Amino acid sequence: MRRRAAAEQAERHPALHVMGLRRRFAQPGGEVEVLRGLELRVSSGELVTVTGRSGSGKSALLALLGGFDAPDAGTVSLNGVPIAGAPSWHACAVLPQALGLAGELTVAENVALPLRLHPDGEPDPVAIAARVSELLDELGVGALAGRHPAEVSFGQQQRVALARAISGRPRVLLIDEPTAHLDVGSVPAVLRALRRCADEGGAVIVATHDEQVHGIADRRVRLLDGLLAEL
Ligand SMILES: Nc1ncnc2c1ncn2[C@@H]1O[C@H](COP(=O)(O)OP(=O)(O)OP(=O)(O)O)[C@@H](O)[C@H]1O
Ligand SMILES: [Mg+2]
Repeated sequence: MRRRAAAEQAERHPALHVMGLRRRFAQPGGEVEVLRGLELRVSSGELVTVTGRSGSGKSALLALLGGFDAPDAGTVSLNGVPIAGAPSWHACAVLPQALGLAGELTVAENVALPLRLHPDGEPDPVAIAARVSELLDELGVGALAGRHPAEVSFGQQQRVALARAISGRPRVLLIDEPTAHLDVGSVPAVLRALRRCADEGGAVIVATHDEQVHGIADRRVRLLDGLLAEL
């Protein structure tokens, strides 16, 4: 009974619900409407991949979903509540295409940040250190924990930024091109980590050109002419 109520609640209010999203950008040749009334629903436990040619608006979409940019029209709701600005990292965490690691913090400190800021509080530094080293080891960058981002390769930084995005077990996870800078050997661990986020109840949205990433999706969509089409 309770499970049915939860299912009905999820049906009414998906973890992420995007309605009528529009975004225009000024371009040298005049304004271009990159997103033109886009709709998307993603449930808890669901991993959705977004494909689309370079410049189709995938990163622009993720910036709007994460509240880092504001739409010209439309709404982004988390569990039925429209966002205004960026939600807490616990509610919605991101791996941006530009990574955005804090340069003054070490690799381990970057990954620990969401845990230290967690609303329920995870004050036990031993538990935080254990979670951080478990994630960094899983992603093959455990040996770099004490270095600063500038002292590791871009592909390594990308995995650190992924570890930071998932460390606090966010309810919604927005991931931009997670395998773009990785050698083939590093990809399976990234795919396992993303899949696990969804299996643990997160709503995971991944922009990618990589067929291997599409392979772990519950659903694939394509961004074309400012709208999403199911694949
Ligand atoms: N802040 C901005 N100002 C002006 N134009 C922008 C801005 N952000 C995005 N655009 C434009 O919107 C379009 C979509 O860009 P976006 O970065 O979202 O593409 P993408 O699908 O992520 O591409 P890629 O696969 O190369 O990462 C591009 O034409 C880009 O120039
Ligand atoms: Mg992009």
